[in-house]
Amino acid sequence: MSTTANDSFDFPQLFAEARATAARAYSPYSEFQVGAAILLESGDVFSGCNVENGSYGLTNCAERTAVFSAVAELGPDIRIRAVAVVSLQRALVYPCGACRQVVSEFSDPSVPVAMETVLGSSENPLIATMNTLIPYALHS
Ligand code: THU
Repeated sequence: MSTTANDSFDFPQLFAEARATAARAYSPYSEFQVGAAILLESGDVFSGCNVENGSYGLTNCAERTAVFSAVAELGPDIRIRAVAVVSLQRALVYPCGACRQVVSEFSDPSVPVAMETVLGSSENPLIATMNTLIPYALHS
C-alpha cells in the first residue's frame, strides 16, 4: 500500500474522513474541494476543508483548517502522527508551503503525509515524510 514510512496507520480511514470533509469545502472561486485529516498521537482524528474568500489570499487550506480545529478542541500540546490530503476533483494534491510549515509545528520530521494517486481511491497513495516536504523547517 504505502511506499515509505509506517504501514501501520489506517490511511483508508483517514482518506475517508478527508473525503467526507472535502465535500463541505467553501470553494466558489476555484471550485476545487480539498479535505485533510490528521491523526494525533492521542488517537483523535481531526479533519478540515478549504474555506475560500473573495479576497483570495485570505483562503484557508484544508490542512490548516484541520490543524487549527485540533488545537481549538484539544489545546496546544497536540502532536500529529499522520496526515491524509485529498481533492474531490484531482488526485495528488500536495500541501502548499504555508500548510507544510503549520503541520510541521506539531509534527516530527518522520510524520507521513499521504496523498491519493488515483482520484477517490485509498490504494497506493503517495506517502512523503514531513522531512521531505519541508526540510529545515523553522520551529520554536
Ligand atoms: N488547497 C487546499 O486546501 N489544500 C491543498 O493542499 C492545496 C490547495 C485549496 C486552496 C484553494 O481553496 C484551492 O485549493 C485551490 O488552490
